[in-house]
Amino acid sequence: MRFYVTVNLMDKFKRLLKIINYANPGKGLLTAIGLLSVLGATSSLLFPVMTQKLIDLASNSGQLPTEWIGILIAVLLGGSVASGYNFFLVGKVGNRMLVNIRAKILAKAIYLPVPYFDNTPSAEPASRAVNDTEIINGVVSQHFEPFISGLITLVASLVILWILDWQLTAVLFATLMIAFLITVPIAAKLTQLSKSVQKEEANFLSFITERFAQIRLIKAYNAEQETLAKSQQTLTNLYDLGLKEVRIGAIMAPIAGMTIISTLIIILVFGATRVSQGEITIGTLIAFILYLFNIVFPLIQFTYFFAELNKAAGAAERVEELLEETSEQSTNKGELCFKPGDITLQNVHFNFEPKVPLFKRLNMVFPKNKKIALVGASGAGKSTIFNLLLRFYQPGSGNIKIGDHSIFEFSLEDWRKHVALIAQDTPLLSGSIKDNLTLGLRQEISQRDLEKVIDAAELTEFIKTIPNGLEAPVGEKGVKLSGGQKQRIAIARAMLQDSPVLLCDEATSNLDATTEHKLQQAMNNLAVNRTTIVSAHRLSTVIDADLIYVLKGGNVIAEGTHEGLMKNSDYYQELVKHQFSALKTNNENPQQLEALVTP
Ligand SMILES: Nc1ncnc2c1ncn2[C@@H]1O[C@H](COP(=O)(O)OP(=O)(O)OP(=O)(O)O)[C@@H](O)[C@H]1O
Ligand SMILES: [Mg+2]
Repeated sequence: MRFYVTVNLMDKFKRLLKIINYANPGKGLLTAIGLLSVLGATSSLLFPVMTQKLIDLASNSGQLPTEWIGILIAVLLGGSVASGYNFFLVGKVGNRMLVNIRAKILAKAIYLPVPYFDNTPSAEPASRAVNDTEIINGVVSQHFEPFISGLITLVASLVILWILDWQLTAVLFATLMIAFLITVPIAAKLTQLSKSVQKEEANFLSFITERFAQIRLIKAYNAEQETLAKSQQTLTNLYDLGLKEVRIGAIMAPIAGMTIISTLIIILVFGATRVSQGEITIGTLIAFILYLFNIVFPLIQFTYFFAELNKAAGAAERVEELLEETSEQSTNKGELCFKPGDITLQNVHFNFEPKVPLFKRLNMVFPKNKKIALVGASGAGKSTIFNLLLRFYQPGSGNIKIGDHSIFEFSLEDWRKHVALIAQDTPLLSGSIKDNLTLGLRQEISQRDLEKVIDAAELTEFIKTIPNGLEAPVGEKGVKLSGGQKQRIAIARAMLQDSPVLLCDEATSNLDATTEHKLQQAMNNLAVNRTTIVSAHRLSTVIDADLIYVLKGGNVIAEGTHEGLMKNSDYYQELVKHQFSALKTNNENPQQLEALVTP
């Protein structure tokens, strides 16, 4: 049991040192901290022995030795200055560490693959980067140095005490051992509790982050009370755990107080007897009692340190777990230069959930510089094909090629640079409209080019009407814009990226028929000289495609042009009939449409 506790403690200590190492504090800074700790400890070690000298000299000669008083003050002052400066240096290491680990966590998290984020609450990386690093910083900045100098003082004090009077020291040791044996099980219980508290707090953070991110949904469905009721359970758990901690603390505090007082009484009684028997001087007894503080205070400090160490080790473990996740970058080869060509899916097998394949042997060709449309019922896998093309997910088997090369031979950055996506849910980030338009753009863009794109995306009028125009902030998730405005910004963003492959996932689904019609021209212009793959439930978007794939049950069940499919595919006809009824509401020319959808 004790062996296990020691190994466990060493593990935690090592984990903490590893994290400190991330701060890269440098040998100079660490040496300075070490030296100042020794200096501080020496000062507190010298103080009692010098007091002993002072008292014995004074009681022998009957007058105060002023030079000794001067030295005593100098030693105390020196020790305080050393401790103060050390506190600053340790805080510096702590803060540097905080910044470095946070930067590392972010740099790691941002390159984690999409499936990681599918399976992890979005508050998780934030909780690692903010809460856990703060816990680690707390123990490093506030408890680490006192622990080291406390350890030096404690060991040295025990040695000095042994030399001063071994019998008195033996009594002291026995008393302390009893106190230690009483507190160990209580401390173990505290450790266990603090783990549960941290877990429960992480759950709480995840829960509220998610609920507030979806505040409109909550309000629209009157789910405020339901949300509060759900969070109440976690809050009650936290309260119960907190109460248990407080109870233990309430037991610990008097035990610690009683230990100090009874140790003091035992030493005083036993020491006074020895003084009266002439075995030790009164100076020695006073020195002994002063050293006692040198032992008791570090011991109290240690209980805090170990409690914090436990928390910090837990935090460090979670940070390490995240840092050890496999980044999507690591599969790169990155030696190849991008060349446009036909894109082919060859026998692609893919499943999100184990044993439930979405695609079994999917074969498709997207000819270079053509417009290809994907149609199929909701859930047929259209967006998933885009996700595979963007390498958000890896096929289980099979290959995706561009020209003669597998797309997996390119570095991720290089590949994605050549593929622009207009996503189904058109998210925007907080920042200005311009920030959103130029997201990820490496090169500066001239005002003229920007205006051209804005015009093509039918955004000019809209931008003119808002104060600050392009510089207007759009808010997280673009909440200050309408669905159609967001889509037009997403289209303009893709236009600016000017990449040879363009993926449009329901890019125009939120636009009214007139705007869509106007934009269609811009989209057609955009499609020139690039491979454009569109997915749409609207007939108007797919009708002029060079090639249409009809997806059903994870397979291509028909392919061809609109006219061809209207003749050959019953399922396509079925789909078109539904699209047609949807389009009637969009005021398009009914006769023209009637002609288009008649086989
Ligand atoms: N991240 C994911 N994890 C697990 N399953 C997923 C994930 N994303 C999609 N799916 C599942 O994969 C299937 C295909 O989804 P996909 O989004 O590709 O459909 P879609 O054809 O784009 O549909 P829609 O027309 O409604 O946009 C669906 O059954 C869906 O539930
Ligand atoms: Mg979709």
